Amino acid sequence: MEKTFSLTQLRAGQDFARDNDFAVTMANYSYVIADKETQDALLVDPAYDPAGLLAIVSEKGLKLRGVILTHFHADHAGGTLYSGHSVSIAGIKELLELTDIPIHAQKKEAEWITKTTSVSQDCLQLHESGDGIELGSTLVTLLHTPGHTPGSQCVSVGGSLLTGDTLFLRGCGRTDLPGGDSEELYDSLFGLTKKLPPSTFIYPGHDYDTEKSMQLETLTKSNPVLRDVPKEVWVSRFAR
Ligand SMILES: [Fe+2]
Repeated sequence: MEKTFSLTQLRAGQDFARDNDFAVTMANYSYVIADKETQDALLVDPAYDPAGLLAIVSEKGLKLRGVILTHFHADHAGGTLYSGHSVSIAGIKELLELTDIPIHAQKKEAEWITKTTSVSQDCLQLHESGDGIELGSTLVTLLHTPGHTPGSQCVSVGGSLLTGDTLFLRGCGRTDLPGGDSEELYDSLFGLTKKLPPSTFIYPGHDYDTEKSMQLETLTKSNPVLRDVPKEVWVSRFAR
């Protein structure tokens, strides 16, 4: 069946924010999901250069209907990078000064997002796991996958899953930062591998690998964090 949507992967420091050395180093991905018929679009993790990302959406002739945050970290949402760190990154706060659209996030991430970005909770549209956002005939589903942060979420659309910092192509997100939890991350990762079709294409939140995306059936063989070991063994290896 032909896909009803397009998915565009944008690499910070290359496709936008080219003059931002920090964006080049951090290697984040932002994504644009757009319904092919209505041209309605969602922007995922608009950090570093919100105006540049809005321009990309506009150049494609798309109508931006909202933002999805995979989690609160400043390299995805904007704001102050971890507590005590002096680096501040542009993100949803600056984007909301340019356009009035909802910011979709998990309920459990709300207080972390407001603290990091200084955006009011009124600007957030808060979700439970499994909630959907309709873009024309395209359904975008938000899956709560805690562990890297309390309200991390993955974004499911068609046969693709945007995993933020929950799952990379060769590893997974850290759990030693505030709000991280290795046991929760284990449950989230193995919940995904059990629930999703093996053909699902995984799109991570950072460009840490030579590939840009990989199918889950390949990842379960090649990514060491997806090896099926008892939870206590996995957690003991992973916890820092
Ligand atoms: Fe993160």
